[in-house]
Amino acid sequence: MNLNTNFQNIADSYLFSTIAHKVAAFGESHPGAPIIRLGIGDVTLPLAPVVIEAMQQALCEMSVQKSFKGYGPEQGYLFLKEAIHNYYGERKICLNVDEIFISDGAKSDLGNILDLFSVDNTVLVPDPVYPVYVDTNTMAGRKILFMDANEDNGFLPLPDPSIKADVIYLCSPNNPTGAVYDRAGLKAWVDYANENHAVILFDAAYECFIEDENLPRSIFEIEGAQTCAIEFCSFSKMAGFTGTRCGWTIVPLALQSEGMSLNKMWLRRQTTKFNGVPYVVQKGAAAVFSAQGQRQIEESLAYYKENAQVLARTLDELGIWYTGGKNSPYLWLKCPNDMDSWDFFDYLLEKANLVGTPGAGFGKNGNKFFRLTAFGDKAATREAAGRLKKLLG
Ligand code: MLT
Repeated sequence: MNLNTNFQNIADSYLFSTIAHKVAAFGESHPGAPIIRLGIGDVTLPLAPVVIEAMQQALCEMSVQKSFKGYGPEQGYLFLKEAIHNYYGERKICLNVDEIFISDGAKSDLGNILDLFSVDNTVLVPDPVYPVYVDTNTMAGRKILFMDANEDNGFLPLPDPSIKADVIYLCSPNNPTGAVYDRAGLKAWVDYANENHAVILFDAAYECFIEDENLPRSIFEIEGAQTCAIEFCSFSKMAGFTGTRCGWTIVPLALQSEGMSLNKMWLRRQTTKFNGVPYVVQKGAAAVFSAQGQRQIEESLAYYKENAQVLARTLDELGIWYTGGKNSPYLWLKCPNDMDSWDFFDYLLEKANLVGTPGAGFGKNGNKFFRLTAFGDKAATREAAGRLKKLLG
């Protein structure tokens, strides 16, 4: 056999696996250390009661022959697609239900969507960036160009007309920096993509953290996006589905190239390689959009937003520069004393038993930065803030 040697061009292990191993090793050598994890952006609150009820009811349906479901539509059940359609409609974004595809989360589809694009395409990603965009393209052997996201541009790079890219990844609110594009910023990208016959892969997984009504929550709020963008979103951060798995991808019918419809291609790809998300999970996801569901997830989101405020206030008091924390569950801070991010990781773990994510894991521009997440337990987050003050004050 001949193997895909592109795997030799990616790190041996995925960033969050590396961190998990390091923390486990520290725990073994320091038994009983009161470790607080603000590293991977994993939720800590349980699923909303309305979601649990819907899933229990769906399970009962599965236990009766008359209502039992076998294979479902690969692109998702209509009841969930319609609920998502209405969710966008409330923000005056008019989608066709056939443009909505239910997935098992944004991460899978952000990688899987690459099936639609030639390996010759040039991919443009910001640095720092969610490692999945880089690793999936590297595995496929695509050429990647990096654009600098840094303090000077507030970690929100804008298009450079001298650079020709075919596939562009944008994430807003951004993982890892927490920075959020305004309408003008996204419009600049949409115009660039339409002029250059490029596609924007827009990761909106953190849109539910946007509180400022002037900030766009979807790329489809921007005129012209229907002909150049695909959006990925997820119930993971919105409704605590990191372990339950459900998301959606929007591939506009107007997105065409060389006489081919990307929507049709994606449908073909999904019907071939995917058998859909479990009925029970889709029922739970649909319940998120009920009035009660919206109230219940708002409560959980408020809990995480309060954690973000606690961490932001701490960094303010310490005089540490950061982005995010507002309209985002992530805080991206500058490591004190010009420390490298892995050194700061070790320092925090050793001296305060705190786990965060070293910025270098997201790219070279993250080398002096560090990410904290607001998805932790409330008391643990407060305790972490206290430890940070004590250590760095
Ligand atoms: C993160 O910590 O960056 C996220 O949890 C990763 C993900 O959503 O896959």
